[in-house]
Amino acid sequence: MSHYSVLKTKIEERTATVAVLGLGYVGLPLAVEFARSGFHVIGVDLSAAKVAAVNAGQSYIKDVPAETLAALVEQGRLTATSDAAALREADTISICVPTPLNQTRDPDLSYVISAADNIATNFGPGKLVVLESTTYPGTTDELILPRLTALGYQVGKDFFLATSPERVDPANQNYNTRTIPKVIGGATPACTELAQALYASAVDSTVPVSSTKAAEMTKLLENTFRLVNISLVNEVAMMCDRLGVDVWEVIAAAATKPFGFMAHYPGPGIGGHCIPVDPMYLSWKMKMIGGAARFIELAGEINDTMPLYVVNKVADALNDRRQCLNAARILILGVAYKRDIDDLRESPALPIIQLLRAKGALVDYNDPYIPSLRLAEHQVGAAEADAITSVSLDHLADYDCILIVTDHSSYNWDSIVAASKLVVDTRNATRAVRAAAGNKIVPL
Ligand SMILES: NC(=O)c1ccc[n+]([C@@H]2O[C@H](COP(=O)([O-])OP(=O)(O)OC[C@H]3O[C@@H](n4cnc5c(N)ncnc54)[C@H](O)[C@@H]3O)[C@@H](O)[C@H]2O)c1
Repeated sequence: MSHYSVLKTKIEERTATVAVLGLGYVGLPLAVEFARSGFHVIGVDLSAAKVAAVNAGQSYIKDVPAETLAALVEQGRLTATSDAAALREADTISICVPTPLNQTRDPDLSYVISAADNIATNFGPGKLVVLESTTYPGTTDELILPRLTALGYQVGKDFFLATSPERVDPANQNYNTRTIPKVIGGATPACTELAQALYASAVDSTVPVSSTKAAEMTKLLENTFRLVNISLVNEVAMMCDRLGVDVWEVIAAAATKPFGFMAHYPGPGIGGHCIPVDPMYLSWKMKMIGGAARFIELAGEINDTMPLYVVNKVADALNDRRQCLNAARILILGVAYKRDIDDLRESPALPIIQLLRAKGALVDYNDPYIPSLRLAEHQVGAAEADAITSVSLDHLADYDCILIVTDHSSYNWDSIVAASKLVVDTRNATRAVRAAAGNKIVPL
């Protein structure tokens, strides 16, 4: 029997051993879905802490309920290890490692390369490898394929390779790993078919495309679409400010058009591991082949100006009250990059804290999801190595300004506004009380 038929049968009968490389925000929910579908799943992660947590049935990802994880571990469906040699037992390997930017904001492919090296070291015929990490078109063909063909195997015959970029949106109540359609592009048609067979067991629907590059590009189109549109609406917010128009009112009115308009909302800057980062992979790739990605570059520039715009808003609001930023006490509400999550990556709160401090402001923060943070861990050039800890909301009146950066749904905006002297609201969180609060609330 061909390797294709053997693997197809193992997948259909759920006797395939499925490995997930990288057990973070993407990998752990995926590993859980494969295990729930009846496969034996091995999670491989460099982090001993994550491996120990999984094996103890403890979830560290909000979207993965601890009971679900614990039950799968108990049944022996899911185990974790830091030892890449476990990949030898695997019939399929899904790569879910980080794809960040380096200090010069170019792609850092070191995790993908080390994952591919680990796979190559523990490879054998008959395996299916799927890249889930978000990256530039060509990564699978250029970085993973050659490492496996160099072992003497032929793709589509001896082994199978595909790209299926993860589209999960942490904390999204409506869509999750299982319900988001999975785009899949294989190195050959047989690769696409096997990857589809695998994922069809764990997700509700799959969307085949003709190549790994098309799959990689699909993800980058999606995230570039969001980057460009959010940056556009941020620029519109700055225009409205100059024009004396309420941007939130304008967006709400525009959103009544039943076709041709999709509402995006302004804010203090786009954060997270994906939207501000992924399009830079495409931009870099275009530069490497002598092309350009002008929308991405411009959107990135506008996004980068937002933290300074917010700091200037705070300075102006204080100035209107005959106060200055220097020595002002500022409390930031919400430092996670978006509502109801505990992720600080690329959060605009980080440059905002730095910029406020550089102007002499005394900055505290409150975030129910982030008990403490170290600027130096997240922010290039941040000098402070000491942790800052989240303060309580008991002394709002002691602050000269409350700055809403992230509108977690646990905040009670009525009581926050009532207890504060001045509120700068970058998220329109206080809209319900804005009219009654008069000039105490300054919107974006
Ligand atoms: N977080 C999201 O919302 C999201 C959504 C869609 C796509 N993605 C993409 O998915 C990928 C993973 O993102 P994430 O948020 O899950 O990252 P993460 O940092 O939460 O998790 C990645 C894990 O990979 C592990 N790791 C790194 N190198 C490894 C190696 N060689 N072997 C084994 N484990 C290794 C790390 O220890 C970490 O636990 C990225 O490309 C990201 O762009 C993320």
